[in-house]
Amino acid sequence: MPTSDELLRYRSEFPILEHTTYLISNSLGAMPRAVYDAMKGYADTWATRGVRAWEERWWTLAAEVGDEIGTLMNAAKGSVSTHQNVTTCQAIVASCFDFSGKRNQVVYSDMNFPSVMYFWEAQRAHGARVRMVKTDDGITVPTERLLDAINEDTLLVAISHVIFRSAYINDAKSIIEKAHKVGAHVVLDTYQSLGTVPIDVSALDVDFACGGVLKWLCGGPGVGYLYVRPDLGKKFEPTFTGWTAHQNPFGFEIGPIRYTDPPYRFMNGTPHIPSLEAARPGLKIIAQVGIERIREKSKRQTARLIELADKHGWRVNTPRDPERRGGTVSIDMPDSQEVCSQLLKRDILVDWRPKAGVRMSPHFYNTDQDLETAISAVEEILKNRTVATR
Ligand SMILES: Cc1ncc(COP(=O)(O)O)c(C=O)c1O
Repeated sequence: MPTSDELLRYRSEFPILEHTTYLISNSLGAMPRAVYDAMKGYADTWATRGVRAWEERWWTLAAEVGDEIGTLMNAAKGSVSTHQNVTTCQAIVASCFDFSGKRNQVVYSDMNFPSVMYFWEAQRAHGARVRMVKTDDGITVPTERLLDAINEDTLLVAISHVIFRSAYINDAKSIIEKAHKVGAHVVLDTYQSLGTVPIDVSALDVDFACGGVLKWLCGGPGVGYLYVRPDLGKKFEPTFTGWTAHQNPFGFEIGPIRYTDPPYRFMNGTPHIPSLEAARPGLKIIAQVGIERIREKSKRQTARLIELADKHGWRVNTPRDPERRGGTVSIDMPDSQEVCSQLLKRDILVDWRPKAGVRMSPHFYNTDQDLETAISAVEEILKNRTVATR
């Protein structure tokens, strides 16, 4: 039995695994059982402590959860703030820069998550010159072309670490090195990496990294995180700001903000307490399991999915090189959208994306049998469809 199957002992922590084949952690990670207690704890605190809860627990929660996320990516303590989602994180980053000068170019890839793309395209209204680097094959990002696009006019490079559609792992190191060489900054979207692909923001020397907890970190909706490299954290003054970023928030001072230190410096309004409470059990489990062990198992299981897809002659829209492949396998079998809805009816939880196909994303809690179950079900659905259309 492979040693990575030790990870199956965590299965009992996730109620949904008892009655579904859960292969959708690239979209929404399974809920840890302990979230029930976390939510009860939240309600009890609110019910019994009332407004005192702010002082006793809630006011520091955003920073504490930020540190718990930061530990998973080797971020310095106090360098990670939390927000509602990635789009908000990107907006906070944008608000640290001035697009009115000559250096006003934002370079990004068409393989970025659309919300991030829509956000940067909209910054044209504020003077940003936006340059999109296009994929050739719908799977990878052409690294050389991306590096060539980064020049002395580039202010920011906004790039996903792992591509949501294909699970391609971008060459973050080369991109960051090139950006720094010409004086540009990088905001790395680590949503599809943190929790399944190891990432070390300190070793990468990345300027900003952001993602959310609801996928591979099993933390539920409502918590995005923003890492700001500690030296930049002291320097940047986000104009998307608010009272929690003030040196003396309870002074309720009139006039311009006096910025406090990170992580609060990058926050703005009242924090999202219920989501922060819900995020903690998942973060705790991921820290216990360890991302290196998750990655080892993920490489093996994604390879198996590719092998099975190949056996049936289905198109795989995911890199075959395990070093360039994240936790998802996108399989474009015939009628893949319909196949996806049939799988959902059978409690085999996956999703479908245009130009990707059916995305299957094993996590540390999946058995090898889950993969066989999903693929056999696809086979059967396609067979029934052939019979029905005869
Ligand atoms: C790479 C990536 N970035 C961002 C998002 C989501 O952005 P937001 O948190 O703004 O909804 C997703 C998926 O939901 C994603 O896969």
